[in-house]
Amino acid sequence: MRLRVSSAGALRGEIDLPGDKSLSHRAALFAALGEGESRLSNFLVAGVTQVMLNALTALGVVWELDGSTLSVQGAGLTGLCSPETTIDCGNSATTMRLLAGLLAYAGLPAILDGSPGLRRRPMERVVEPLSKMGVPIHADGGRAPLVFGRRVKQLEALQYTLPIASAQVKSCLLIAGLAADGPTRLTEPGPSIDHSERMLRILGLTVVIEARNGGPIPIHEARGGLYLGVEGYTQVSGNLRYTTHLVPPKKLSLPFMRFSLPGDISSAAFILVAALITPGSQVRLRDVLLNPTRTGLLEALMTMGADIRIYPTGERQGEPIGDVLVRSSSLRTIQVSGPLVVRMIDEFPAFAVAAACARGRTFVRDAQELRHKESNRISALCSELQHLGIDADETHDGFSITGGEQPQGGVVDSHGDHRLAMALTVAGLVCKQPVVVNGAEVISESFPDFLAVLQSLGAQVAYD
Ligand code: S3P
Repeated sequence: MRLRVSSAGALRGEIDLPGDKSLSHRAALFAALGEGESRLSNFLVAGVTQVMLNALTALGVVWELDGSTLSVQGAGLTGLCSPETTIDCGNSATTMRLLAGLLAYAGLPAILDGSPGLRRRPMERVVEPLSKMGVPIHADGGRAPLVFGRRVKQLEALQYTLPIASAQVKSCLLIAGLAADGPTRLTEPGPSIDHSERMLRILGLTVVIEARNGGPIPIHEARGGLYLGVEGYTQVSGNLRYTTHLVPPKKLSLPFMRFSLPGDISSAAFILVAALITPGSQVRLRDVLLNPTRTGLLEALMTMGADIRIYPTGERQGEPIGDVLVRSSSLRTIQVSGPLVVRMIDEFPAFAVAAACARGRTFVRDAQELRHKESNRISALCSELQHLGIDADETHDGFSITGGEQPQGGVVDSHGDHRLAMALTVAGLVCKQPVVVNGAEVISESFPDFLAVLQSLGAQVAYD
């Protein structure tokens, strides 16, 4: 599908966003292991979560969607059954890596496969540590399909250092660790997304995060101290390494959940940047997830001079939430590297568009992980921005963008990457000529209402 967007007048209004993708995945999965019926409202109904729900069906879990409210009949910690056919994870690496942890935990024979794009993504990073725990798993060349045999022995407790900070890998190993014969201890070179830890704690498990030069930091205290530059949080410090400890459950049950999911900060990113770069705009985003391991983009944009105000409204299921008010702003350049990269890992497509509108040259370093996302986000982003007339240069571990000139516009391609498609659409709001985005249907993987939300704010955008 082709989408066409033209230069817009001011974007104005108040919006609610679909439920957070990372939280939706985890909430569905932990609800499946719970006792009784869980109810998850504002669940993300989109391509990536549909494959997770289909997988849970294949494992014998009963669920029902009513609009965006998901009810899950928990199978309990021992109630999953072996799937009859290969589980299709579509294009969703989160689904594949979290399910790898779930299958390791359950010890069931199964095959996880996915789209050609997912088959290209690195899975050795879960296969290797799961094998160390004693999981009978095989993946040719470290890529999907992942083939699990039936497990006959209890899993061994894992002490492991992740070569890169990755929430998907960490979460996979924490889920597997629920069935281990002792505590799981995972060390990472940076503060990756900590939703699994927070959710497991809410469900009654003992999870502690420790920073290398300090003592243990229980999550509810870490919230204030570890990460962010928005009100109430302090900046992440230097080169700390983070170690997550999980103690396996003594009693064999997890409670059900009642959770109204906050809006997805990664979907919010596109609306924030759209409002920032479109003169005269003012948009309020209500009830947004403000977990400090996810808010790196807010910090980067504020450093660039963005007029963004954050109004914290409290916590839900251990996750900080609030409203975000954004007004169009004149942006300065910034250099992004180190731990900040991990805390805005999904936001570089949106960030690149902000950089293209900032005066001067912006540099991104230490971001080679972007080559392993839904597309090679360094190459794909730079080449598509160049097609719009933006001066974007690829480096081995990031990119640089010179902004300040109004881009020309033109025809671009999504590379099958939902976030690239949305970023290019946002760029179209400030180009001289209309922008056509080919392959835009992929947006429905994570934000099916993206166009409707932009239109409600006044943008000129539609499918051709
Ligand atoms: C996610 C973790 C990140 C992120 C992805 C969602 C998660 O991936 O890019 O979109 O929900 O755990 P990595 O763990 O590979 O960094």
